[in-house]
Amino acid sequence: MTRVMIVYETRSGNTEKIKKAVEEGLKEKGAEVVSKKIKDANVNDFSNFDAVVLGSPTYHHDLIPAMKRFLFKMEQVDLKGKVGAAFGSFGWSGESVGMMTDTMKHIFEMDVIEPGLRIKRKPDKDGLEKCKEFGRKIAEMVKG
Ligand SMILES: Cc1cc2nc3c(=O)[nH]c(=O)nc-3n(C[C@H](O)[C@H](O)[C@H](O)COP(=O)(O)O)c2cc1C
Repeated sequence: MTRVMIVYETRSGNTEKIKKAVEEGLKEKGAEVVSKKIKDANVNDFSNFDAVVLGSPTYHHDLIPAMKRFLFKMEQVDLKGKVGAAFGSFGWSGESVGMMTDTMKHIFEMDVIEPGLRIKRKPDKDGLEKCKEFGRKIAEMVKG
């Protein structure tokens, strides 16, 4: 069975709403999903998963600080060839998703989904459908 780990952070809840819909899409495709906020996540668990999916909103043209620190922890484990994907809510510029995707691709040498999923503010009905579709896409990519 496809196993996917989602690690995310949110300040005002929008990225969490995206996370829930991405998770739904993954589960529709039969994936087993474990999702954790950054404070509860352990990079040593990643070896048990086929894909690692990261979620962070954009604040001040940057990642939320906890995600920035978490990426340095991720550098300590071997993620080469694992599927990676990123999502996040934003207001106007939305740099966080590209930053996570680029780091997974260039530093961890993961097999990433490009572009990642950027949703403006709180996902509406169309936005939630995009999130589910992104989840389905991740599951399909793992299956190859
Ligand atoms: C102080 C502050 C700074 C922000 N800076 C940015 C920014 O630089 N670029 C951007 O696209 N959105 C920015 N936003 C908007 C947030 O990304 C947006 O509200 C998002 O939905 C928050 O996601 P969350 O609910 O998961 O925390 C900012 C919001 C606040 C309150």
